[in-house]
Formats: sequence, structure tokens, C-alpha cells
Amino acid sequence: MVAQSLHLRVSPSVSVSLPKDFKGSSFGSLTLFVQPTKWNPIVVSPTHYQASCRLRYNARHFLYAQTAHNGEVLSMDSGEPESKPRRKSLAVFVSGGGSNFKSIHLATLNGAVLGDVVVLVTNKRDCGGAAYARDNSIPVVLFPRSKEEPEGLSADDLVTILRKFKVDFTLLAGYLKLIPVELVREYPKRILNIHPSLLPAFGGKGYYGMKVHKAVIASGARYSGPTIHFVDEQYDTGKILAQRVVPVCAFDTPEELAARVLHEEHRLYVDVVAALCEDRITWRDDGVPLIQSKEDPNQYC
Ligand code: GRF
Repeated sequence: MVAQSLHLRVSPSVSVSLPKDFKGSSFGSLTLFVQPTKWNPIVVSPTHYQASCRLRYNARHFLYAQTAHNGEVLSMDSGEPESKPRRKSLAVFVSGGGSNFKSIHLATLNGAVLGDVVVLVTNKRDCGGAAYARDNSIPVVLFPRSKEEPEGLSADDLVTILRKFKVDFTLLAGYLKLIPVELVREYPKRILNIHPSLLPAFGGKGYYGMKVHKAVIASGARYSGPTIHFVDEQYDTGKILAQRVVPVCAFDTPEELAARVLHEEHRLYVDVVAALCEDRITWRDDGVPLIQSKEDPNQYC
């Protein structure tokens, strides 16, 4: 669902009543971010808008507009906040210990995240993350098929399984294999990854695990921290959604720095997944994703 800017012309002769927190001008040209198919039952075309439409302008509020067929606004009023978003179904991918997976799973159980982990995908059937999933009755799926893992699924079968689980979002949490293009295409803007450095620094093929922290220390960088980004067809190049900063101390070992970053990863990933499940991610015109603050939908972080 791609957010679009919708320009409406407001005639000076029309009195427009807008909510206090609406940022934009009530005369002249008005720009609203709308999601035509998911949020708004309106048809948007460059020259022609429906005569009566409901325009969502942030996570909870919308405006009713009566427009002429040329898009000129005849009247506009604010609506009531929308009802709660529905619970989302999450797939988590891991290759290792799965501490991020565990913190996300706990957050789904304690109510911090409005979603459920419905399936765990791994390339290593005996990793800590897979063991935790089995202990918590979360189905485990092996991917990809390889010499070491002949029971692993093909990319097409993986997509089919995720469809069966009605997965809304896929979360990579220490999954070391490249995500197949079939999956990226099936879930545009719906796959996240966490990386243990401040991307775009120290990312890309070969930068994983302790190698990242060793490189950060060797560079003399004074700050590091996790990055959460959307996933595209390459390693670590998708749009950055969120970051947190931790200091790199003078005599840090890679293990000490890794522990400091990981502590922050657990908090950041839970906050970001909470926002994702509450439909609080919006896209700036230039394609940068933003997280809307829960307390004040006009603030972004
Ligand atoms: C984390 O450092 C994450 O940033 C990276 O892989 C590690 C996974 O750790 N992508 P864990 O398995 O969640 O403990």
C-alpha cells in the first residue's frame, strides 16, 4: 500500500473546519498523505477524485471532504479516531541464539506488540532460536534447501507456507542467508532486518556477527548501535527505519561492544515491531519510512 500525496484545491469561499493538530494550510493547496486502498475508500486519479471522500492524514484521524470532480474541496470536516488496528501475524527468521526473537515473542505475550509470532523460519534446525520456538509451540520451518539441510523448502514453497500462515510481516533477526527475491516481491515494505551497526557504515556482504564490531572498533568510530531497515534484494541496503546509538568505549573488546549493542537491539526491535503492528509507519515523499509517535501522531522518530 503506497502512501500518496493528494493535492486538493480549497476555494477561499469555502469555510473549512480542520482539527487543531492538522499541519497544512486550509486555503490554497492542501497536501495530505493518503493510502487509497488500505485506509481510504477513495479512488485517486491525477485529475479526478470522488465527490465525497474520507482522507486519512495520520495513524488515528481522518477528514471527510466533499469535492468537486476536479478535486476542488467544497467542505471538509474532521472525523472520529479510528478503531484499534487488528492483530498482525509475524514470521521471524533466525540462524542463531535468537535473543531478538525471544524479546519480540515476549512482547507479543505481554501486550507491548499487537501481533503474534505464527512461524519461525531457520536455516539451522538446532539453533537456539529454533529450540525456543519448539518449546513455545511455534511452528518451525526450514529454509533454504541445501546439502546440509535437504529437508529445507524451496523459495516458492516458503512463500506458499507464509501465505498459509497469513503472515503480515516478516522479521529477520540474525538470519544469515540472503532473502530470496520471491519473498521480497511477495512482501514489499513488509520485511524488516536488524543489523548491529549504524548503517550504511559497516554493512553489506561479509559484515555479520563479531566482524561488524571488530571493524567498528578498528575504525576508531566513537559511536555504534543497531539499525532496523526494510529488506530489498541485497544485503543491508533497504531503507533505514530506525536506529539507536551506543558509545564505543576506549578499550572495548568486540564482545563488550556487541553486548552493549545487543541490549539496545532488543528494545529497538520491540518498539519498531509495535509501531509496525499498529500501522504507525508512514512513507515520506522521497521514499524514507518514518515511525509515527504513539503519543503524538504529528511527531515522527
Ligand atoms: C544481532 O546482533 C543482529 O543485529 C544480527 O544478528 C544478531 C542476532 O542475535 N543481525 P540474536 O540471535 O537475536 O541474539
